[in-house]
Amino acid sequence: MPGMTAYGGFFELGCPKKGERVFVSAASGAVGQLVGQFAKLIDCYVVGSAGTQEKVDILKNKLGFDEAFNYKEELDMDAALKRYFPEGIDIYFENVGGKTLDAVLLNMRSNGRIPVCGMISQYNLTQQEGVTNLAHLFYKEIRMEGLIVSKFYHLYPKFLEFVLPHIREGKIAYVEDIVEGLESGPSALIGLFSGQNFGKKIVAIARE
Ligand SMILES: NC(=O)c1ccc[n+]([C@@H]2O[C@H](COP(=O)([O-])OP(=O)(O)OC[C@H]3O[C@@H](n4cnc5c(N)ncnc54)[C@H](OP(=O)(O)O)[C@@H]3O)[C@@H](O)[C@H]2O)c1
Repeated sequence: MPGMTAYGGFFELGCPKKGERVFVSAASGAVGQLVGQFAKLIDCYVVGSAGTQEKVDILKNKLGFDEAFNYKEELDMDAALKRYFPEGIDIYFENVGGKTLDAVLLNMRSNGRIPVCGMISQYNLTQQEGVTNLAHLFYKEIRMEGLIVSKFYHLYPKFLEFVLPHIREGKIAYVEDIVEGLESGPSALIGLFSGQNFGKKIVAIARE
């Protein structure tokens, strides 16, 4: 499911072109890790944000992102984005929402695309944060479009045809974060909201 989400969201809604500049938030999550690698396969410049230095190192050294940064250490997200994207962002793969989205809007290039996959920073708030820079959508003719993965299920054979050879050749790595036993389920779920996972969190119920 995360693979289809990344594939459909990035290729169908992101409409990427070689050399474009791509920003992925929650880049160490199940979906983000793949979006970044798909973007590298077509020679895009890719930057990911994640919540620890260890995650940043894995994104850069294992998954091939050009750059990555720890968003928790950036007091000014706009300044951070300007540092990594001096010429602006062509595609923002949206996973977190809130202040990140607001800063991204300031840094999008004309005719940029924002596939909206999720907004994890907003799910547990009693009142969602406002986004103040939406006017950039029309200033720069940006296309921002939401997705639910089921929209792309008809592309499953095409997805497998694309992804399997890359996995076999070691060009795509897929990181899973496995915990054992049904009793680990609740803490595994809650841990997603404080970034305790790297890659797809899996609860292994039984091994036999
Ligand atoms: N539309 C769809 O069909 C679809 C399908 C799958 C997933 N999604 C959405 O896509 C997004 C990513 O899902 P996923 O499965 O790839 O992620 P995941 O594996 O569940 O990981 C979530 C990651 O989000 C980051 N995070 C948590 N709270 C955050 C916050 N307040 N601000 C910034 N980052 C935060 C954490 O990493 P850090 O250490 O970086 O904070 C965490 O590891 C989520 O919003 C999810 O709901 C949508």
